Amino acid sequence: MVRDAAFHRCDFNYDDATQFLTRASRASSKDIVAGSIPEEDLAFIATHLKGLKRNRPLRGLHIGNFVGLSLAYLTDSMRQIDDESVMLSVDPAIPHRGIDAPHDLVTGLMTRYGLEANWLPVTGFSLERSGVADVLNRKASHTRFSSYNGFSATESLRSLIRMGQKFDFALIDGNHSGPYLRREIKMLFELVRPNGLLFLDDVDENWAGVVKVFENLDSGAFKRVAHENRVGVVRRQASSSGKRNSGKKVGKRKNQNGKDTKA
Ligand SMILES: C[S@@+](CC[C@H](N)C(=O)[O-])C[C@H]1O[C@@H](n2cnc3c(N)ncnc32)[C@H](O)[C@@H]1O
Repeated sequence: MVRDAAFHRCDFNYDDATQFLTRASRASSKDIVAGSIPEEDLAFIATHLKGLKRNRPLRGLHIGNFVGLSLAYLTDSMRQIDDESVMLSVDPAIPHRGIDAPHDLVTGLMTRYGLEANWLPVTGFSLERSGVADVLNRKASHTRFSSYNGFSATESLRSLIRMGQKFDFALIDGNHSGPYLRREIKMLFELVRPNGLLFLDDVDENWAGVVKVFENLDSGAFKRVAHENRVGVVRRQASSSGKRNSGKKVGKRKNQNGKDTKA
């Protein structure tokens, strides 16, 4: 029997996805959810995807997978908008939050929801190799050179630029250091189409560096358009003067009432 034939497929559902990942990984659902974007914030992002002007299937760029919850949710949302949409994901597949082989779980999740044909995975760091400290002292892989040690492709964004790729939107939820994030955003100006959207996760009190980057984003290249709970949204401007503006605030940093805070 072909093993895949026994793989139970169903429509995407956030609770089913966390249960599937919990069963498949032996991690607790609390750990899975704590390392992932909450469902309400993914719903907020999906609402913005529906509003994107386009005359063709959507192309998305997803940076930072962990076990694939946000990736599966948003790829499914894109497919509902147009079933030929494609999400390209970038993640080095290094052990994270006690999950040793996260990419196996991501693949299982995408397969469970029949999203394989709408997904193009890149196993690599967005920029240079980084953030592999939590790999140290973990058990060894079956090979000496593996993602366990941070061995992975690097400079994925630069490669995508060299290949001339363009995206309708990008989500950044990978390396959370401010300077790294700032350099990723600079490269994303080349990759996101004019008027396309950039979503930043963790724009909240737990990540001061991310908040600072978001609040300083109105540089002419990107303009802040919304911020709800922990997700910040910016729009890529048609052209950039390269000049920073006065830094005046265009939106509330946090909405306690759960309402869209359009600037
Ligand atoms: C917070 S988790 C992502 C959670 C995921 N977005 C979700 O909500 O389901 C961060 C992920 O980013 C990955 N990561 C770290 N540095 C990265 C980089 N430079 N480029 C791409 N991914 C990176 C980590 O290995 C981890 O899988």
